[in-house]
Amino acid sequence: MSNSSLYDRLGGEDKIRSIVTDLLALHKQNPAISVRYDNAKKKDAEIIGLVVELLGSATGGPQQYTGMDMTTAHKGMNCSEAEFVAVLDDLLEALTKNGIGELEKAEVLALNYALKDEIVHV
Ligand code: HEM
Repeated sequence: MSNSSLYDRLGGEDKIRSIVTDLLALHKQNPAISVRYDNAKKKDAEIIGLVVELLGSATGGPQQYTGMDMTTAHKGMNCSEAEFVAVLDDLLEALTKNGIGELEKAEVLALNYALKDEIVHV
C-alpha cells in the first residue's frame, strides 16, 4: 500500500474540485435527489467549495472545513437511506469519471459512508 496521503493519491485540490463539481452536476440529474438541490439555499459554487474543504481535510490535505457539521447541515431535511445511497452512487460515478483508482475509490466511499448516521433522518 502506498504511504502517501489519500489526498495526494487523489491528485490534490484541483482533482478534488473536479470530482466535486461533477458530483453536484450528477446530483442535479439524479431523479432520486435532484429536487433537494433545486431548493438549496447556498449557491452551487459555495456548496462545491465547502465539499472540497470537507473532502480535502478528511483525506489529509491542508484545507480547513469552514461549513456546518453534517448533522446541522442536513437537519430537518429528513434524508432517507435511499437518498444517501443515491449520493454515494453519484460519488462513485464522479470518482470513476475522474480516473481515480479502485483502492482510492473504496477509501473515499468508506469515509463518506461513515457519515450516514449524521445525515440520514436527522
Ligand atoms: C456522505 C454524504 C454527504 C456529504 C459528505 C454531504 C456534505 C454536505 C456539505 C459539506 C454541505 C454544505 C454544508 C454547509 O452549508 O455548511 C451539504 C449541503 C447540502 N446537502 Fe449534503 N452531504 C451528504 C449527503 C446528503 C444527502 C443524502 C442529501 C439529500 C439528498 C444532501 C443534501 C444536501 C443539500 C440539499 C445541501 C444544501 C443545503 C442548502 O444550502 O440549503 N446531502 N452537504
